[in-house]
Amino acid sequence: YKLYKMSVERSFIAVKPDGVAKGLIGEILKRYEQKGFRVVALKQLVPTKELAEKHYEEHKERPFFGELVSFITSGPVVAFVLEGKGVVAAARLMIGVTNPLLSNPGTIRGDYAIEVSKNIIHGSDSVASAEREIALWFKTEELLQ
Ligand code: TYD
Ligand code: MG
Repeated sequence: YKLYKMSVERSFIAVKPDGVAKGLIGEILKRYEQKGFRVVALKQLVPTKELAEKHYEEHKERPFFGELVSFITSGPVVAFVLEGKGVVAAARLMIGVTNPLLSNPGTIRGDYAIEVSKNIIHGSDSVASAEREIALWFKTEELLQ
C-alpha cells in the first residue's frame, strides 16, 4: 500500500450490544476521535431482524448466521460513520481480527473481548462494503456534508 496516497473515505462502525453493555461506547469513540477521524453520523438503536439480516447477508449460509442475527438484535447498538484518510483499513487495524484471542493487545477486540461471537464492534471491510452499510443504516440527511 502507498499509505501516503490513501484518499479520504468513510467507514461504517457499530458498537455491538456486548460493547454497549460493557460501557465501551465512550472508549471506542475516544480512540477514533483521538486518532483524528471525524464522526459524520451517530445513533443508537436496537436493530430489527430485517436490518441485521441485510447487514450480515454475506454470511447467510454460514452455520453461525442465526446466532449472529439474534445477538446483534438483542440490545442497543451504537452505529456511526467515520470519515478520514484511509479510514476503512485503519479502523479495522484498530479493531483487531475477528477472533479477539488472536487480536493484538492495544486493539479494541484484543483489549476487551474473548469470544468470536461477542467481539464488541463491527467495522466495514472495504470501501464498497462501507458504502453499502452506510446506505443501509443511515438516511442521507443523517450524514454531515
Ligand atoms: P466476519 O465478517 O467474518 O468478521 P468481522 O466482524 O471481523 O468482519 O464475521 C462477522 C461476525 O460474525 C463476526 O464479527 C462475529 C461473527 N462470527 C461468529 O460468530 N462465528 C464465526 O465463526 C465467524 C467467522 C464470525
Ligand atoms: Mg466482516
